[in-house]
Amino acid sequence: MSKRAAIVLAAGQGTRMRSARAKVLHEVLGRPMVGWVLDAALEAGVDALVPVVGHQAEDVEAWIRAAYPDTDLAFCLQAQQLGTGDAVRVALDATRSAETALILCGDTPALDPVEIGALLQDHEDGQRDLTVASFYAQDPTGYGRIVRDGEDRVLRITEERDATDEERLIDEVNAGIYVVRRALLDDAIGALDPQNAQGELYLTDIVESLAKEGRSVDAYVLDDPERAMGVNTRAQLVEAEWLLGAKTIADLLDGGVVVQDPTSVRVEHGVTVGPDTVLAAGVQLLGTTTVGSGCHIETGTILRDTSVGDGVHIKPYVVAELAALSDGATAGPFAHLRPASILGPGSKVGNFVEMKKTHLGAGSKANHLSYLGDCWVGQDVNVGAGTITCNYDGTNKHKTVLEDGVFIGSDTQLVAPVTVGARATIAAGSTVTEDVPAGALALSRTRQVNREGYDEAYRKPREDAGKKGTS
Ligand code: UD1
Ligand code: CA
Repeated sequence: MSKRAAIVLAAGQGTRMRSARAKVLHEVLGRPMVGWVLDAALEAGVDALVPVVGHQAEDVEAWIRAAYPDTDLAFCLQAQQLGTGDAVRVALDATRSAETALILCGDTPALDPVEIGALLQDHEDGQRDLTVASFYAQDPTGYGRIVRDGEDRVLRITEERDATDEERLIDEVNAGIYVVRRALLDDAIGALDPQNAQGELYLTDIVESLAKEGRSVDAYVLDDPERAMGVNTRAQLVEAEWLLGAKTIADLLDGGVVVQDPTSVRVEHGVTVGPDTVLAAGVQLLGTTTVGSGCHIETGTILRDTSVGDGVHIKPYVVAELAALSDGATAGPFAHLRPASILGPGSKVGNFVEMKKTHLGAGSKANHLSYLGDCWVGQDVNVGAGTITCNYDGTNKHKTVLEDGVFIGSDTQLVAPVTVGARATIAAGSTVTEDVPAGALALSRTRQVNREGYDEAYRKPREDAGKKGTS
């Protein structure tokens, strides 16, 4: 039985986003908004998540299921969006066993889990029936107003559109975060009626009905109103990115990371970076990227879902996706590491090198202008400038193996499938179509022919004839 269940309202379409995608799936720092809200609920100490889905319910549900495989999840479908009160109504059955219901909106990605935890604690310590989070807004437009009596007791919440001129002046507003004694919710929600400006069931009306019954109802004033911001528009989505992006950078700095020009650096949700690592201007660390300690990541580098060990040097403008760089590896400038590129300890990939599904063993180097695809490279191999693996025959991909200590001369084509044995040498300019035995020299190019006196006998006379013709 769950003690605390979080009902997360995520059924709305989000018309003001002007998007084909459900609002709560819009991403902030690479994570859908609803994910930030669910994370905050879990971190604050709830033991079950009850998302209320409606618009694009299948997509929203699929994302949540994949993101929280080990969490107690109960999805509730709100087929028609008849208001926040109606959204909670569809979640009543799924939360019947909970003692406390935390109710959150799926469009508030900046929520501070610590503050939500404090709110839950305050509600339970005060043995209250309902606690609603509020904040003092510089501009309360659009928010529900918290109406209190002469003794500061909370009486009700009035929505902007239903408020009197006097009520509109109130600057204490509803953050849209509620903690309620679950046993009271059925009757409170059952009593809601849509007699209001929007003809909807307002969740906010439970405040008045419970207060009138003499239940203990109070508002918990949030320290940091910014963190309760709701996202209804694209502009607010960008604001949420700035807010959470700045917080992410601040956390990195606290953890000993050097961030040069922080406004230009993007670090997405869930990325980790070790101490003494330097992130230069314009670096982007995306998806599930992890970076170890003592690394130097230079300007313009973009790493997606990539793991970087300790002491790695990534020079300017490297683009990597689903790649792994072991301790002490070096890459760039201008290297493209495509999925399943694995750089062994101390290995080096230089400028204008593209790699895909390629393992480069410890201490091996591919320093200039190469394409290595579907390739397994052992240790201490030197891949010369301009080496190309011809891995695709137009139908299938084939593998190239370069064993330990191999030396590949410049401008070599390795026509896969092909294996070059340990310590073999390939002469520059070779097209290698057959396996090379260990320790051998492979030389595959036509022998050079020099014809002496060519300039005097052929080239000059033709040039002279041409000049005469044009004068
Ligand atoms: C709501 C509050 C308002 C508060 C504000 C804080 C009500 C009536 N008003 O207004 O007092 O100041 O939040 O941000 O509750 N949703 C559903 N099903 C529905 C309607 C909404 O799931 O039928 C979801 C939406 O997807 C959204 C959340 O509930 O995530 C809030 O709905 P929204 O329409 O944004 O409410 P506000 O007008 O912002
Ligand atoms: Ca809203």
